[in-house]
Amino acid sequence: MNKLLRRKTVLTGDDQPHEHRMTRTLSWPHLVALGVGAIVGTGILTLIGVGADRAGPSVLLSFAIAGVICACAALAYAEMSTMIPASGSAYTYSYVVLGEIFAWVIGWSLILEYSLVVSTVAVGWSGYAAPLLHDWLGYPMNLAQGPHAGGIVNLPAILIIWVVAGLLMLGTHESARLNAALVVVKIVTLTLFVAVALPHFDAANFEPFMPFGFGKSVAPDGVERGVMAAAAIIFFAFYGFDAISTAAEETKNPERNLPIGIVGSMLVCTVIYMIVAAAAVGALPFTRFANSPEPLALIMREIQQPGIAKIVAAAAVIALPTVVLAFFYGQSRIFLVMARDGFLPQSLARISARGTPVRITIITAAFVSIFAGLIPLDEIAALANSGTLAAFVAVALCMLVMRRRAPDAARPFRTPAAWVVGLIAILGCCYLFLSLPQKTQLYFLIWNAFGLLVYFAYGMRKSLAETR
Ligand code: ALA
Repeated sequence: MNKLLRRKTVLTGDDQPHEHRMTRTLSWPHLVALGVGAIVGTGILTLIGVGADRAGPSVLLSFAIAGVICACAALAYAEMSTMIPASGSAYTYSYVVLGEIFAWVIGWSLILEYSLVVSTVAVGWSGYAAPLLHDWLGYPMNLAQGPHAGGIVNLPAILIIWVVAGLLMLGTHESARLNAALVVVKIVTLTLFVAVALPHFDAANFEPFMPFGFGKSVAPDGVERGVMAAAAIIFFAFYGFDAISTAAEETKNPERNLPIGIVGSMLVCTVIYMIVAAAAVGALPFTRFANSPEPLALIMREIQQPGIAKIVAAAAVIALPTVVLAFFYGQSRIFLVMARDGFLPQSLARISARGTPVRITIITAAFVSIFAGLIPLDEIAALANSGTLAAFVAVALCMLVMRRRAPDAARPFRTPAAWVVGLIAILGCCYLFLSLPQKTQLYFLIWNAFGLLVYFAYGMRKSLAETR
């Protein structure tokens, strides 16, 4: 029992042996760019359609609910990431605050989250890229969809994963700069979408506002619907700020820069989403874009703006890889930290001469390609959300436990009304988890049961906790 609850003493990056250490090169503008780069993606560009299918026009409410819960979680992240400015995000906080077994479960959930976000966004990318490739080069659509949609395999999704893996292997700094440029493309495109859609705004499209009710319930076609069912999927659109905290070791002056990066990027994105969602639902009855693989482009075509539709699609194609990149980056860092702690084979943690973990990147790319090639978008996204929700609950819990255990410890960033914010984050995430499809909840539990088997067979024995 002692072993299961042993806690890690924080090792910041500067205490790591040289071959495992990363250089501090990032400042807050890099972090906000990394954050917006990670947050604005398939959620608003594609899952807005799935959300509309699940909730109807009240998908707006789903955005608001998911946004408030994420904002509370973001504050808890900001507090924890400045108290413990080391790589590993929720995994590391859980190890330091709650104990090894919790850390393992959260680390295992984060692997699920980050990997499946990479897959989801790659599929979202393909949703916009494939029609363009089809129009210009006659690319066969059955090689751009998984078997569930009548295709064979989603090859463009696999391709983009490997391109981004290559970029990452070239080094963080080059990637972060490229990311910053592409963030601008995303913001400008969403602004253009809103500007063109707004003149077509029809309040009648919001009637009836809540056709499927509030709480999750099974509709006659067997799909689980309602405002909360949509919020549980749309939640995907909001996270990404946690990818910033995985860059803590590479951040200059993390006490100041991390909270600005995390909370700032979260706020910027929430405002953008509310406006885009209102413009989308206002421009077209939701049933016409629900479940489309490229809903924003479809809306533009339907309001007779085919040129703008192409611009939106092209921008998605150019910009979505930043999201893949941010999560891929986070994924390799989680692996790295878990390997350093002895939980995964040490050889995986080796950093190449260019300062990047090449082996982990290749393994991750292989794993996420399988999902991206074969599984439907909404199912991967829901499963990614389940891992993220577990991590958010853990971080908020860590914040509250530390407030109790060490009320006077130095906190470079203090969450205002911490108990209210912490409890909203925890209870809200639990409610979102319960609103996920039942199948997703089951897969999540199977994944973690398998994870615990690995822990008892390998992780617990190999853990380096006692050598510290
Ligand atoms: N928030 C990210 C997206 O929507 C994961 O793509």
